[in-house]
Amino acid sequence: MEQPTTMITNKDVVAALNIITRGRMVTSWDEVSAGTNPYVVTKTSHIPGKGIVEIPGLIFGDPAKEVKRIGVGMTLTENMIELASGMELDLLVVHHPVAEAASSGGVPFGDYLPLYGLSVIELHEAFHGLHPGMTMMHGHQKLSTDISFGGVPGNVLHKGVALEGVATVADLLGRLAGWLDRDSDHRLLEAERMIRGEATLQEATMANPSRLLSGRMDKPVKHILHFFPHTGFSLEHLEQALLLYPETDTIIVSISRVREGHPFVSLAQKRGLNFIVGNSHSVEIMENGLPLAYALEMLLPSAEVFLLRERVTAVPLTDIGSRQMVDYGKGIAADHLVAGVSRAVQNI
Ligand SMILES: [Fe+2]
Ligand SMILES: [Fe+2]
Repeated sequence: MEQPTTMITNKDVVAALNIITRGRMVTSWDEVSAGTNPYVVTKTSHIPGKGIVEIPGLIFGDPAKEVKRIGVGMTLTENMIELASGMELDLLVVHHPVAEAASSGGVPFGDYLPLYGLSVIELHEAFHGLHPGMTMMHGHQKLSTDISFGGVPGNVLHKGVALEGVATVADLLGRLAGWLDRDSDHRLLEAERMIRGEATLQEATMANPSRLLSGRMDKPVKHILHFFPHTGFSLEHLEQALLLYPETDTIIVSISRVREGHPFVSLAQKRGLNFIVGNSHSVEIMENGLPLAYALEMLLPSAEVFLLRERVTAVPLTDIGSRQMVDYGKGIAADHLVAGVSRAVQNI
């Protein structure tokens, strides 16, 4: 006889996430207006109408609605919504904050998501700092973490010591490449270039490999400072951190990156330190998404959990492989867009 399966609802998924986050989820909209949950945060550069309030909780959907198939992803987009629809997922749990229209192909959630019976939970800052995965992947064990270094909230600085087996820069970079299976991504890109006839096609993770910007591959790695340039970490912060931890031999930046000429790199070169640019934001789906997906599966064993991994590519117009699509794009542009513009300009 078939065993009866337990029915899971959106509310149960939020409860499971509350276990994972040690109670950081929003469980009622009152918490949002009352301002009592510290993980309800406004993110804004003060561009009118473009800021966002992050709310770790059920953003769209009925709490009592049944959930059988859950997708875990990083950033909600129309692609993810369409994939979820095609796969008949019930719920998307996404890491980055969602915004109506920005995350849903230019239309309000209310007009779009009900067509597919899709609910959305977001879980961003409330998921950060719960596990050591990111530092572990970068070959070190964090000894201390300051989440507001220099008094800047969210400005995270990890002080770590290299893990066993990570003795040199080469070990650290090799570990990153191996764990992320970059070889498969490389072969996938080569195959796609060949199949599409687009030799110059680029892909986000392959375009951003880990790199050594100061130091040598054979230099020892032991005492590590690891931070994230997009959190407001300044050159002064780096100087301050090096004063606090003078034993530092290696600096790692990850998620966001800096390039060769950046003052961080110049400082590392001047001090004879290794400077490593680690994983880019494109692989956060592995660093954070995968552990989150497994945690949900462990807490909700009767649900099916899927990892929604995004892959973004770029190709110069001159190299687009599909003749049909090139003719379409050029024809429409010439006959309806540019011609229209020329006429409009002539009419002024
Ligand atoms: Fe994150
Ligand atoms: Fe992120």
